[in-house]
Order: sequence, then C-alpha cells, then structure tokens
Amino acid sequence: MPPGVEHDGWTLRYAGFDPQQEGLREALCALGNGYLATRGAAPETQADAVHYPGTYLAGLYDRSVTRLAGHAVENEDLVNIPNWLPLTFRAQDGDWFTGRAQEIVEHTVALDMRHGILSRHSRVRNAAGRITAVRQKRLVHLVFPHIAALQTTLEAENWSGGLEVRSAVDGGVRNTGVARYQGLADCHLALRRKHTADAGVIVLEAETPASRVRIATAARTRLTTGGPPSEVRTWTDATRIGTDIAVPVAPGRRVVVEKVAAVYTGRDPAIGDPVQAAVQSAGEAADFEELAASHARHWAELWSRCHLDLEGAPETERTTRLYTFHILQTLTTHTAELDAGVPARGLHGEAYRGHVFWDELFVLPYLNLRLPEVSRGLLRYRYRRLGAARRAAHDAGYQGAMFPWQSGSDGREETPAVHLNPQSGRWLPDHSHLQRHVGSAVAYNVWQYFQATGDHAYLAAEGAELLIEIARFWADLARYDPVLRRYRIRGVMGPDEYHDAYPWAAEPGLDDNTYTNVMASWVLHTAGRALDLLPAYRRAELADRLRLGNGEPAHWDHVSRKLRVCFHDDVISQFHRYGDLAELDWDAYRERYGDIRRLDRILEAEGDTPNRYRVSKQADVLMLAYLFPPDELARIFARLGYACDHDLLDRTMRYYLQRTAHGSTLSAVVHAWVLARSDRAASGRFLHEAMAADVHDVQGGTTAEGIHLGAMAGCLDLLTRGYPGMEVQEDTLVLDPALPAGIGPLEFHLRYRGHWGVRVHISHRAASVSLRPGQQAPIRVRIGSGEGTVEAGSTWRVALPPRA
Ligand code: BGC
Repeated sequence: MPPGVEHDGWTLRYAGFDPQQEGLREALCALGNGYLATRGAAPETQADAVHYPGTYLAGLYDRSVTRLAGHAVENEDLVNIPNWLPLTFRAQDGDWFTGRAQEIVEHTVALDMRHGILSRHSRVRNAAGRITAVRQKRLVHLVFPHIAALQTTLEAENWSGGLEVRSAVDGGVRNTGVARYQGLADCHLALRRKHTADAGVIVLEAETPASRVRIATAARTRLTTGGPPSEVRTWTDATRIGTDIAVPVAPGRRVVVEKVAAVYTGRDPAIGDPVQAAVQSAGEAADFEELAASHARHWAELWSRCHLDLEGAPETERTTRLYTFHILQTLTTHTAELDAGVPARGLHGEAYRGHVFWDELFVLPYLNLRLPEVSRGLLRYRYRRLGAARRAAHDAGYQGAMFPWQSGSDGREETPAVHLNPQSGRWLPDHSHLQRHVGSAVAYNVWQYFQATGDHAYLAAEGAELLIEIARFWADLARYDPVLRRYRIRGVMGPDEYHDAYPWAAEPGLDDNTYTNVMASWVLHTAGRALDLLPAYRRAELADRLRLGNGEPAHWDHVSRKLRVCFHDDVISQFHRYGDLAELDWDAYRERYGDIRRLDRILEAEGDTPNRYRVSKQADVLMLAYLFPPDELARIFARLGYACDHDLLDRTMRYYLQRTAHGSTLSAVVHAWVLARSDRAASGRFLHEAMAADVHDVQGGTTAEGIHLGAMAGCLDLLTRGYPGMEVQEDTLVLDPALPAGIGPLEFHLRYRGHWGVRVHISHRAASVSLRPGQQAPIRVRIGSGEGTVEAGSTWRVALPPRA
C-alpha cells in the first residue's frame, strides 16, 4: 500500500490530506447503490484542481454540441447532477471551512466496506486559531435507492461561542471531471426551481437541456444533538439553496447535524412528480443510525452472496473486497430495474462520459452466478437498443443489428469523432467505432447468461432475438472471396486499439481480424443452436416476426465454417498482413520513456504511429483463449477448417505477449487468465498487476476519472471462474482447478440453479462443492475427471492430482 494508506480486512483508511492523491481517493471512496453514486469528495469542497464532488444517476445522459476548429462535435455525457453533499461550518463569524490544506490539522478518511459507510475525522483550524473537530459518516442507501445521508459531529476544541452550520444543494455543477475534455461543452443542467417545503426540507429542481429529464434533489438538515438551534435560516443564490443553522458551542459539547437527501427524476416509476417525491422521501426518511442499520443488513446479504475468501493471500483478498464493493455499488437490483448498461468507468467519474462498451463481457459472467437478475437487467439494456442497432446496420447497408462501440442513452454510436493525445496536444480522428466485435460480446453474454442460469424463458423472450440479429449482421458483413474460397470481414478493428489502419492505406480499418472473425463464426453457430433450443411454437413466431428466411440458418452455418483466419511465422495473425509490419525496438522505448503502456500516444507525439509496428495495446487474438477453454477453441477452429492445437496456442501466446504494451487495464486480466494453465508464475504476476490497477492507479492518473469496472470484475471472475476452471456445460457445473502459487485455498459462494449460497472450496489438493439444505433439485457436478450428482444439504469433495 502507498504511504498513508492502510487496508485491514474490511476498511480502507487514508491518513493525512494529500492533494495529489485526492482524485484517486474520491473515486475509490465513492458510494453508490446502482441508482445513484456520489464520489468520496469532502462535503465542504467544490470542483477545483484537487477536488471533484460528482453525483451520477445510472443511465442518465444528456447531449451537447461544441464548435471545435470549425466542426460541430457532439457528445453525450453521464450527467453530473446537483450536488446533495455540501455541508460546512464556521466558528464565530470566521470564514466558512472550504477544505484547503492550510485549514486542516489532522485528517483521516475510512471506507468501511462491510457496512457501506464512508467516514472522516478531521481537526480544522480557522484563521483565528479556533480548532474544531469534525467527524462525518455518510451512506448511499442500498435498500432505498433515492436516499443518501450524511451525519456530521462537530466539537469546538479550544473555543466557545456561535457555530454556524451550512447545508446546501448545489445546482451549479458541471461535467468538468476530465481535463482532456476541457473546451468541450460541459453544462448539462438548467435550473428550474429552488424552494423550501414543509418540515424544513429544501429542494432544488433542475432539468437536463437536451434529454429533458427533470431531477429533484431534496435535503432535510436537522440538529439532532447539541441543544436547540439559536437560528435556522434558508437562503438561495444563483445556483444553490441552503439551510444555515446557528448553535452555541463550547469545548466538550458535541453538535450532531444530520442531512438526509432524496433524489428523484421524471423517469422514476411509481411517482407523480419528482419534486413532490423527493420532498416526501427526504421528510419521511428515518434518522441516520436507523438508515445505517438497514443499509448494513443489506450489505451483509450481498457480502454473503459474493463471499470470496483467499486464505494465505491477505493482500489479494483485501483488494477483492474493494473490487467487489465497487461492483456491487454500481450494478444492483436497482440498476436492473432502470434502463442502464455497464458504464466502463462505473458511476465514479466522467471518463469515457459514462459510456457503455464491450466491457460488460468482463462483468456479466461474474454476476450471472451471483446476481443473475442484475445480469438480465443489463442484458435488457442491449435488447431495448436492438432497434437502434438494426437501424445502424441498415444505414450502413447491412442486415441484422450492428451495436455501437460506445453506447449511451438511445443506442446510437457515441464514439467521439476525435480524441486528444495529451502527450502531443493534438486532436486526432477516432476510428474505434470500427470495433464491430462489440456485437459478439453482447451475443456471448446472452449465451453465458443462458448457460449459467438455464433460463429458457429468457432465451425465448429476448436472448434468441439478439443472437439472430447479431448473426445476421455477421452473415451479411462477411463477403465471400472466390479466390480464397473464404468469407472475409474487412475494414474493422479488433480489441487492440493501437491498430486502426494499415500504415500503407488511406482508409481506416483492417481485414480478417482473427478475434472478429472467430467470434463471428461462434455467433453464427450459436444463433443456430439457440433457434434449435426454442420450443417449435416460439421458433415459428420469432421466424415470422423477424422474417427469417428458410435458408438463413443454413447460410449462417455455411459462413460460420468458412470465415478466414490468417497465420504468419507459425502463429495466428492478429489480422491479414500483420506479419508485414515492422518490429518495434521495445528496449529503446522502455529506456527512453520508462512507462510505455500508452505507446500509441508516445509514437503519435513522435510523428509516428503504432500502425506501423507489431505492437498491441491489449490482448486481441488472445481474447479467444480468454473466452473459450482450449478444447472449445480447438472445436471452433476445427469447424472453420483450421487446426488449433496446444502448441499453436502456446506459440501464439508467447508471440503476442512479447509485443503487448498493456495500455488497457483489461489486458493484465486476460493474460493472467490465458496463462493460468501454461505458465502459472506468469499468470500470478499478471493477477498481481491486474489487482493493482485501480488501487495503485497503474495507468497513471486514470482511476481518479472513474474506476475500471471491467478489470475489477475480471479479477473476481478470474479468481472464481478462471483459476477454478469453472464452466457450466449444458447442465453440469464443471470445475477444473489450476491455482497459481500463492493463491489458494480459496472459497466462494454461488447461486446456481435455484441453490443459494453454494459453497465452492478449492485448494491445491482438493475441490469441493457444498449445497445448503433445501427442496431444490440435485445438481450435476464434474470436478477434474470425476462426475457426480450433489443433493441439497450435501458436499461433494474430490482430491486433485498434483500439478507440475
Ligand atoms: C480499452 C477498451 C475498453 C475501453 C473502456 C479502452 O482503453 O482499449 O477495450 O473497452 O477502454 O474500458
């Protein structure tokens, strides 16, 4: 842990105020409940070079247009909504406390993950030398999604007299959390009304200018200990409404102030009006301690569902807690009821503008076996945007559904046309929308969800339709080359974003990206399987509604066997003519720049381009070995008419590993996974790096702009599926453990086929599955080469052969 940071089992503690680290701490101390999230900024602060208080609502976007160098640049942002948090104080007519370093004598912040509480203890001194102790606790309620609360205890240490406490709601906030976006429009709130309602509740109503969503933030501020206030006054200014409470204080007398906020929007169900709902909720909410108690009970349930114990690896275990905490705060049953997807950077900051990428590929498999209803809600985000994806395919001249690389409110392509290279200061064209493979991630998740849950009703209602439309797109995008006698997909990008064009070509896009083609083959085959699994009646309905031609499934099958995969130097090529690219002098670059994760920026700043070299930002071909176990991958290649044996995979792994810069946090997760069976030591090193990604902010300052949700979930999935070798094959839960040295024994819980709290225990010597007592049907389990049926209330344990 860096200096000043301590992480015991359940609490992350920061000692001292460090302006350099504040952004990172605010992101890692964000609290949320899947509906609402608030960064861990101190309540007395405003957005400036050090602090960034931001509050976001899942799925709430607004778009705006900026004129940039004569072009209209349109962006859609996850909206930073009015700040409910502001609370400060002043001693005896001194200045209001604003959180500046020179005011702070002592400062500790603690994130208690077990109970979902962020607390702070500071001693602050004003210009007159008056010292006041501040203790605060806050929560964003897990059961009541609209409620957040802040309890503040103030004590005059060396003075007596009048203390004034100011609690406000601030509608003057903007989306200014990412320095690189400066100069682009950042105003997403039009203030409508500020007023006081009954029982001293203040309320501020704003509306997003383009998406026209009304947002109401109400706050009730009460003095609960410290005697009656001498004065309570409500005020407003241009952008805020507040309550000032004056109270006499003296050393030894504590003043406790409780602020309970309620946030509603015009999109919320079961309300008449968001202002009225917010005022009512804030007025009626219980006091802080009672809210904290119900919140903690719910956390206890969630922790049990996502239980993961790593005996003997305490540091890794602590990080898994932090990552679990943030995933569970971002994606909850509340999210599932909303129309929201998986934001790549959580609800923790404004990087990538809150957009939804393929990152759900790393998140849903983890949720499928713990919170399947959340997975299903997130899949519905895609289903609802099937119309937009069909339109996008149609407009581009194709059949089926073409999902956007970056998705926001309505499912249109949100990838910006240009992005800034901070290293060169140049705005560059962004071609990453050519990552058409995102559709395959949606399809893969549909199938994984179905496999993990056996939810045939889902497949029939929505899943099959998604698979069919994505398959149709691939079948149409792939064009037959009579000379090669293969189908080709041309002009796309793979996951490796360092390659968006051939260095010799005028147009962006690459041909025959192996990841894209093999995934397309898998989707085409799987769509056919899904159709076969539907009841005949439903299959006929769907075929009629989607105007499925008689020969279409046969055509998918044909294309799925004939897509092209290229090879060079005895390895699988990332794309056609990859082998014609130059080798980079890695040592020279490492020596010159030290950290070369963002080689793309370095090379562009030098007037060069990564397109010229055999360099990857992240796993591309190797993603296939991440998504499919070796024997399944071999089967997929065999259907395509290629052999993919262990040696080829091994050579391919080593080849790309030497040429990957790991410029995405997803890269270490994937490499840890794919090396689990061939190089356990290297896998352990990548695990270590993946676990450090957000805790140590390894990508150099990006975590402050939002956590990396995909990498966080990917780490947990690696520990609970990758290393245990866990899969659901048809109706059998399969375990084939391969733990790296230093990891294990490990124990975790699952929800599987109606069984809650299924306990899986894996050591280097044995693996077991235990079901709790109940009426549920037995399950089939395969561990290594042994297969059996496990009944409710029993345990099945298998000794594992020693590994080399
Ligand atoms: C990665 C993408 C990822 C995106 C959002 C990029 O840096 O290259 O694979 O989807 O970040 O997390």
